[in-house]
Amino acid sequence: MRSFLATGVAASLIASAGLVRAQSQYSIDSDDAIKKTAASVAWDMLQYYSGNETGATVGILPGPPPAGDYYWWEAGAMWGTLMDYWRCTGDTSYNDLIMDAMQHQAGPDADYQPSNVTLSLGNDDQGFWGMSAMLAAELKFPDPASDKPGWLALAQAVFNTQANPDRHDKTCNGGLRWQIPFSNNGYNYKNSIANGCFFNLGARLARYTDNSTYADWAEKTWDWMYGVGYIDNDNYHVYDGAHVEKNCTDINKAQFSYNTGVLLQGAAHMYNYTKGAKKWEDRLTKLVDATIDVFFPNDIAFEISCEDHDTCTTDMLSFKGYTHRWMSVATKIAPFTSKKILPVLATSAEAAIKQCTGGDNGRQCGFKWKSGVYDGKTGVGQQMNVLAAVSSLLIENTPPPVTAKSGGTSKGNSDAGSKGDGSFQNHNKPVTTGDKAGAGIITFIVLATACGIFGWMSFGE
Ligand SMILES: *[C@@H]1O[C@H](CO)[C@@H](O)[C@H](O)[C@H]1NC(C)=O
Ligand SMILES: *[C@@H]1O[C@H](CO)[C@@H](O)[C@H](O)[C@H]1NC(C)=O
Ligand SMILES: *[C@@H]1O[C@H](CO)[C@@H](O)[C@H](O)[C@H]1NC(C)=O
Ligand SMILES: *[C@@H]1O[C@H](CO)[C@@H](O)[C@H](O)[C@H]1NC(C)=O
Ligand SMILES: *[C@@H]1O[C@H](CO)[C@@H](O)[C@H](O)[C@H]1NC(C)=O
Repeated sequence: MRSFLATGVAASLIASAGLVRAQSQYSIDSDDAIKKTAASVAWDMLQYYSGNETGATVGILPGPPPAGDYYWWEAGAMWGTLMDYWRCTGDTSYNDLIMDAMQHQAGPDADYQPSNVTLSLGNDDQGFWGMSAMLAAELKFPDPASDKPGWLALAQAVFNTQANPDRHDKTCNGGLRWQIPFSNNGYNYKNSIANGCFFNLGARLARYTDNSTYADWAEKTWDWMYGVGYIDNDNYHVYDGAHVEKNCTDINKAQFSYNTGVLLQGAAHMYNYTKGAKKWEDRLTKLVDATIDVFFPNDIAFEISCEDHDTCTTDMLSFKGYTHRWMSVATKIAPFTSKKILPVLATSAEAAIKQCTGGDNGRQCGFKWKSGVYDGKTGVGQQMNVLAAVSSLLIENTPPPVTAKSGGTSKGNSDAGSKGDGSFQNHNKPVTTGDKAGAGIITFIVLATACGIFGWMSFGE
């Protein structure tokens, strides 16, 4: 971590006194206090980002391992968290960073598959960036310049690459694989998060565009996950995934909050898109109950599969925040869920800020909200979770996500990303010097002529 932390004498004195539990500097007692707290937590989170400095890669966090702690997808999730932060608090401080990052990482085909990240490119990784692009459209985040792909077009591109027959084989009766390149570890695993992101994006595109093709895919994906038993048919617990060699019957029953959260938010969109269909009301209700039951003991977010034994990976250390955000959005578009969800999120956020007493400035956040004490470790995930929990407290006075018919202005392209993986595999064949020069030249042509990415796509074929 790049440390700018200098103050905090008081906090270290308290810490050295040993028995005294450090007092959090944060409060969420009023809207102003919430905004002040969120601003500070956001600032601390962004100290991990150096992509806006000369020579650094725009849009990513230090990584992927071993080069740094963070896989590519987490930055995509972070920009989405900051969009929600902006919408809930009105603070535009980071909007330029968000714009640059979201555009740069879209990659040469404007579908969030830049070749730098092929080795860790899963459908879920791409999906997280796609969901952040979708969010930009829904929140009316400032539109990019007209020669750049619109937010809606970027979300459609991600959706179309994943709906393409190239990504759907007969194993396990359907479903997406975890990884995209067939040579990646995990290509033989079909999991809940890859399919959950696709479901979520389909549901949101359906609501935003009112185009039933997206809803059909969301239905189909839900049915598959339910049919194969990743969504437990009895209690709606959501399990991690299984292998194609076993026809997806060797289910890994570990539960992670983002799996249930991503389905919950998607189901809320299907509920809204279908104008309150009973089927989706039931599914959503069961997901809300299961999510609170499993992941919010005493109404405080808890990552059940790894928190108690300190086995959460860097990825897992960020799941609570998405769950908070996704649940809070559900209350806007499926208002019947508010009564259950909002009190839980409020209690959870209160616990979240109490343990932000770490670091030299005495306000860094750890992960163990339920314990009430800073656990000695901080990072992007820990900060992002608390940022999400605190910002979301303002959701009641934040407008609901828009649609194309209710104020949305984002430029779409329903053909974006529909070329299939042939071109993707082409871009990602082993890099030779010739390829490198070629890619460099193509980038130069795009910039020089400003003819745009789609123009290049057709002539690059
Ligand atoms: C990068 O962004 C951060 C957060 O907005 C800001 O504090 C910093 O000054 C920026 N750095 C450069 C080189 O622009
Ligand atoms: C890919 O990596 C190169 C070299 O680090 C960097 O200049 C470029 O911006 C990266 N592309 C993306 C989309 O991040
Ligand atoms: C694989 O599992 C599905 C249920 O998910 C079942 O319908 C199908 O018959 C199974 N296929 C084989 C080859 O066992
Ligand atoms: C759908 O969402 C809108 C907010 O955009 C809300 O006013 C409406 O009540 C929701 N529909 C249903 C059936 O809850
Ligand atoms: C709906 O979306 C599908 C999938 O992208 C697309 O092929 C179709 O043209 C769209 N329909 C309309 C009316 O826009």
